[in-house]
Amino acid sequence: MVNYKDLGLVNTREMFAKAIKGGYAIPAFNFNNMEQMQAIVAACVETKSPVILQVSSGARKYANQTILRYMAQGAVEYAKELGCNIPICLHLDHGDTYELSVSCIEMGFSSVMIDGSELPIEENIAITKKVVAAAHACGVSVEAEIGHVGGRGDDAVKEDVYTTVEEAKTFYEQTDVDMLAVSIGTTHGVYLKKPELKFDRITELNEAIPIPLVMHGGSGLTKEDYIEVSKRGISKINFATYMFLAGGQAIEDKVNDAAGKKAEFNSLLKAGFEGQKQIVKEHIGYFGTEKWNKK
Ligand code: G3H
Ligand code: ZN
Repeated sequence: MVNYKDLGLVNTREMFAKAIKGGYAIPAFNFNNMEQMQAIVAACVETKSPVILQVSSGARKYANQTILRYMAQGAVEYAKELGCNIPICLHLDHGDTYELSVSCIEMGFSSVMIDGSELPIEENIAITKKVVAAAHACGVSVEAEIGHVGGRGDDAVKEDVYTTVEEAKTFYEQTDVDMLAVSIGTTHGVYLKKPELKFDRITELNEAIPIPLVMHGGSGLTKEDYIEVSKRGISKINFATYMFLAGGQAIEDKVNDAAGKKAEFNSLLKAGFEGQKQIVKEHIGYFGTEKWNKK
C-alpha cells in the first residue's frame, strides 16, 4: 500500500475550498504518457496553478499502473524543479468498479471517481457509499456522477440526462461524496453541434448542495462558457479531447514541415508536448485558475 502523501500528492479538499471562495475552477487534465504529463505540469507551473492529473482506466492499462505512480511522483518533483511547488492531485477518471477504485487508492492515487451514472440511482448510491468508505479511511477524496454526461454529441441533449436538483440532493445526502459530476449540457469528445448549456441548472445545483460540482466534457466550449460555468459553481473542469487533438495537430504540422525528410520520434514528441502545453495554458486562463495566487 502506497499512501499518496508519501508521493507528495494532495487530495482535492483544500483546492476546492479555495476555488469555491474565489469563484474559479480547478483544471483536471487527462494524461497517458510522460510528454502529456510534462506539458500539463509545465503549463501549471508557469501559471502557478494547482492541477488534477487524471487517469482513465484505458490510460491506466496503456501506461501501466506502476509506471503511472512513478510518473505522478515525478510530476511533483518536476514542478519543484521548474520552480513552483504547485498542489498536484492524482485522480482516477471514470472508475467503474469498487475493485478498480481500491486498487488505485492502494497505488497512491489521492482522489478517485466512481462513475455509476448509468446505473439506477439506488445502485449508484450503494457503490458510491462503498467507495467513499474505503477512500475516506485513507484520506482520499471521491467524485461521483448523477445524471449522465454522454459521448460525442449523442444523448446529452435529451432532457432526461440532465442532472435534476432533487436527485443530486438525495445523492449527496446519502453518500457523503466529496464532489459531484453533473450533466448540464456538455458531452465527451468532439462536438458535432454547439452544446446547449443549462447555466441556471448549475446555479440551482450549487445552491442545493454544498460540495464542488464537476463538469465533464470540458473540451470545445467558448471562453465565455468557461467563465460563466465557473462563476455559477462548477469547481472542476475536465479537459481531454481538444488537448489530445492539439498535441496531434502539432505533430502533424511538424511532419509536414519536414517536407519529405524522415521525421524523428523525439522531435515529434517534443512538438506534441509544445502543442499541448499551449492549449493547457490558454484554458487555465479561461478557467480563472491563476486567481489561486491572489490573496
Ligand atoms: O473525464 C474526462 C472528461 O470529461 C474530458 O472530456 O474529452 O470532452 O474534454 P473531453
Ligand atoms: Zn468525463
